[in-house]
Amino acid sequence: VADEAFLRGLPKTELHLHLEGSLEPELMFELAKRNQVTLPYDTVEDVKSAYNFTNLQSFLDIYYKCADVLRTEQDFFDLTYAYLKQCSIEGVVHVEPFFDPQTHTDRGIDIGIVFNGITKALEQGREEFGISYGLILCFLRHLSEEAAFDTLEQAKPYLDHIIGVGLDSSELGHPPEKFERVFKAARDLGLRAVAHAGEEGPTSYIENALERLKIERIDHGVQCTQSEQLMQEIADKQIPLTVCPQSNIRLKVYEKMEQHPILELLEKGLKVMVNSDDPAFFGGYVLQNYLSLAQALNMTREQAAQLAYNSISSSFCGEERMRTMI
Ligand code: HPA
Ligand code: ZN
Repeated sequence: VADEAFLRGLPKTELHLHLEGSLEPELMFELAKRNQVTLPYDTVEDVKSAYNFTNLQSFLDIYYKCADVLRTEQDFFDLTYAYLKQCSIEGVVHVEPFFDPQTHTDRGIDIGIVFNGITKALEQGREEFGISYGLILCFLRHLSEEAAFDTLEQAKPYLDHIIGVGLDSSELGHPPEKFERVFKAARDLGLRAVAHAGEEGPTSYIENALERLKIERIDHGVQCTQSEQLMQEIADKQIPLTVCPQSNIRLKVYEKMEQHPILELLEKGLKVMVNSDDPAFFGGYVLQNYLSLAQALNMTREQAAQLAYNSISSSFCGEERMRTMI
């Protein structure tokens, strides 16, 4: 079984991390004070006891409320920098974080404030910790196609700051095909494409995300276990799945970690890897996710090394950088 020192020492990337989901309660209180925002919680303990989710939507309702403390460029910088600092002590050498501009622009915050704060921190993280990065802009799927197009338009002055687009928020009832045209527009601008699919949603959402959004990686994707044929296709085509074990437990996709299929998928030859999703809400960053797998599923060093290798080979960082990571 892989131990903590081994897991920490493995060079890893993180490809499924929502920056807004890395907002720790302590920083949330600090920003609430700085911006004179009233939170529905009095103490860090209060916050932590509210983080008791029953499904994806029950989490999202709280997650969007917490994001209200993020107002200034400095706030977005502090959020992103704190995440990178944690990465630096966990052996994470490259990150491709998500951010949700609509969560902020819908509150009247200029997209430039969001972009500048995040990008400045990513640059500092690269200089200070040697962590390379590619930023991914996510469209909120509970909002309209029109709103997604509007967001893409607002992002145009900042296209140099992003490597791709993604799709997140409430999955059920918001199938990928709703965003077929905006994904095409994004790809035509030279952006890479990923999407959340098959976290809670059916296998058809995974199939349509691949066929109609032409994504290069599937975020979550664990529901592919419902279809032997789809699993085989994902294995044959080596389409990466950015799996988030702790998230799946906290959002009740599986009752306990012992039931998580990630190692079975790995043994079937699917290109799976380990990510934290929203670590401040789900109780652990990427290293903790690896540790949970070791504890619950007796993950071996070989399996851990393969997962970490998959995280590197599935990244958009380019071959040259990839060679320096292995
Ligand atoms: N699923 C969908 N949307 C999200 C998630 C997630 O796990 N985390 C943050 N936004
Ligand atoms: Zn996610």
